[in-house]
Amino acid sequence: MSTDQNKFQAIISHCKEYGFVFQSSEIYDGLSAVYDYGQYGSELKKNIKDYWWKSMTQLHENIVGIDAAIFMHPTTWKASGHVDNFSDPMIDNKDSKKRYRVDHLIEAYAETLPEAEGNAVLAQMDELLKENDFAGLKTLIEEKKISCTVSGTSNWTDVRQFNLMFSTQLGSVTDEASEIYLRPETAQGIFVNFLNVQKTGRMKVPFGIAQIGKAFRNEIVARQFIFRMREFEQMEMQFFVRPGTQKEWYEKWKEERMQWHLSLGTDPSKYRFKDHVKLAHYADAAVDIEFDFPIGFKEVEGIHSRTDFDLKQHQEYSKKKIQYFDTEINQNYVPYVIETSIGLDRMFLLTVCNAYEEQDLSTPEKQDSRVVLKFPAKLAPIKLAVFPLTKKDGLPEVAQLLVNECKQHFHCYYEEKDSIGKRYRRQDAIGTPFCVTIDHQTKEDGTVTIRYRDSMEQERVPLTEVKNIVLSKIM
Ligand code: GAP
Repeated sequence: MSTDQNKFQAIISHCKEYGFVFQSSEIYDGLSAVYDYGQYGSELKKNIKDYWWKSMTQLHENIVGIDAAIFMHPTTWKASGHVDNFSDPMIDNKDSKKRYRVDHLIEAYAETLPEAEGNAVLAQMDELLKENDFAGLKTLIEEKKISCTVSGTSNWTDVRQFNLMFSTQLGSVTDEASEIYLRPETAQGIFVNFLNVQKTGRMKVPFGIAQIGKAFRNEIVARQFIFRMREFEQMEMQFFVRPGTQKEWYEKWKEERMQWHLSLGTDPSKYRFKDHVKLAHYADAAVDIEFDFPIGFKEVEGIHSRTDFDLKQHQEYSKKKIQYFDTEINQNYVPYVIETSIGLDRMFLLTVCNAYEEQDLSTPEKQDSRVVLKFPAKLAPIKLAVFPLTKKDGLPEVAQLLVNECKQHFHCYYEEKDSIGKRYRRQDAIGTPFCVTIDHQTKEDGTVTIRYRDSMEQERVPLTEVKNIVLSKIM
């Protein structure tokens, strides 16, 4: 299995050093699997969000967006099945007391094996998970002598289920009735608003509701940086269809979502589909879109055919009719749902991993290197950096005028400190696609040097053209 832990560690360090991602409350030694986004990280994250939101809502006339609350009535989670089923098989090491998610423990072991052998272990695990065969999973762990990373021993408890929802108290009375959950997925906010949106928006099936928001899961094995977090963000879309047409729509959304990923210019060989072996309690078909991270192929997005499970459950628990009258066939029904669900933080990690390059630029005369983040221009935190060659002769004033003109349209960065070469390197490290230098010639003929991040080529262009050049690449 091809993993590159060194590259992954370098990316994590780079994210911190250049203001993309910090550990949460780091001055108190951090909080496990919780992260903060810094000055460039929050811009990148927002650009990814906007790109998804636009592709879902603006480019689909039959998809609208909502923004539901994180707290929901506790019965929501009873109805959705999360109270009873949102759990993972776990195993504890008796010596270290460390708890592991069984699939993660076995996957980590499989990664240490040659590819064919690793795949055989994973296939065995998939089969046992599908059958909910906990004793079999324990036997597999023991047979393979899989050990705890802390104690180094294979002294394991039995495999047990562990619910992943966080709960808290609403108000000041700590009785059971006031216990509520932090939502573990955004989807339920969409389901409970199905009728509100359908009626007020006069939506006709098939139609979709999209949402971006925080979700919370008490992940037991929370590792690998922002890949698996306890507080994270999801971008989900529920597409409501006529019963019987769900297979067709499932295939359509599978294809459409893959195209969305590829529209960012990523090499298609870095993506693959992986069908779910063990289906969630609500699904009749499900597939993951996986990306080739430095830590191996991992899930970024799930496409799930959720049947009419959720709406029917909410209908039953709320005792309110949740149905749609289809005028084309003169029938009332509970719509079926195709869900596309992508982790924003995972998409962020994917974008950084895909963009990160360490380049050796040495020549016989001089040793040189750079770290560059080759973000798609539309996602880059800063689009244009503007440098006056010197701090005098009126060059800063010309540069500032350009910034003032462009910042109405996109994010700019002005810098006059250090050599131009150093300034380029700093922008490469945060992924700025265009740098413009204002020099003495600018004052004579109105041209500037524009430098392209990826090719490092430079050319002279009219100062008045800079804004349009950048705009044409980021739209
Ligand atoms: N509503 C369906 C649902 O939540 P999921 O496969 O559990 O399905 C969807 O989650 C996506 O959310 C995943 O593909 C992943 O990108 C992201 N995700 C899930 N758990 C996560 C975690 N602990 N940290 C970061 N992202 C996570």
